[in-house]
Amino acid sequence: MANETARNIGTVILLGPPGAGKGTQSRQIVERYGVPTISTGDLLREHIARGTELGLAAKGIMARGELVPDELMYGIVATRLREADCKRGFVLDGFPRTAAQAGWLDAFLEKEVFENKTGNGSQAGAAKAAQAGSGESCRCPLVVIQLLVDYNQLLQRLTGRRSCPTCGLLYNIHSQPPRVDGLCDVDGSKLVIRDDDREEVISERLAAYDRQTRLVADYYKAQGRLVAINADRPMAEVTVQIFAVLESRRRQEYVPRSGEVKALK
Ligand code: AP5
Repeated sequence: MANETARNIGTVILLGPPGAGKGTQSRQIVERYGVPTISTGDLLREHIARGTELGLAAKGIMARGELVPDELMYGIVATRLREADCKRGFVLDGFPRTAAQAGWLDAFLEKEVFENKTGNGSQAGAAKAAQAGSGESCRCPLVVIQLLVDYNQLLQRLTGRRSCPTCGLLYNIHSQPPRVDGLCDVDGSKLVIRDDDREEVISERLAAYDRQTRLVADYYKAQGRLVAINADRPMAEVTVQIFAVLESRRRQEYVPRSGEVKALK
């Protein structure tokens, strides 16, 4: 599937509160378009598992459900975005999460992707030049897809989430249970509950979203790049809405006007 439809989709940001389905939907985009997904939560959890300095700094913060300081995020995101597999575009899941991170991302993309079209010194620039040679659009505009979900539904999704530590597949005991209770359908691994999916941490994560990440929606709304969709629907229906946004953007038929939020409820 990815090979059939592999093409440039530029920068896609999935924005939404914990449990909105960012990870679930980014997997669908990856499968269809063959671009990588970059989950800052996963990157941080990898650092914690490896016991790096960043991991040690982030561990307690994440366990409390708070946001890791912006300055600690920039390095890992920049390093990942410079990797060659990001050349046709990428999906960001969990970044940016503050208005400062959004501003940083704009500056990063402008400097490393748009100003560096000849590829001087940066892989992203080289990738961009390669895209120019292949006739693909270099300036596929950044799109931010905001997933809107009711608060009680978020709670149910988070408390019911289970994941496979081996293949990363996500389940939900309410909406998407495994065939055998507690075991991954694919490899039989024992499913695990994420450390921060405890009820007291969930409420802090949702509060952090309200305090800090809603401002990111305002930031992109003011730029006319925000498309809000109703993600309080079955997974497959949400995927259809997301693909529709990406396809119409590619055809340049859907160009959100400044400040417009297109709600597909
Ligand atoms: P992160 O890992 O990014 O977690 P999150 O944003 O809280 O989001 P989740 O992964 O919990 O939810 P999701 O939206 O991906 O939903 P999912 O698809 O899994 O961040 C963790 C922590 O890292 C943060 O708290 C912070 O400390 C730190 N961090 C990360 N990025 C940072 C940054 N940029 N700056 C600072 N700190 C940062 O789905 C959830 C469940 O619902 C699953 O069980 C799924 O099967 C189910 N589900 C999904 N869609 C549907 C549907 N349509 N219907 C029914 N069920 C569904």
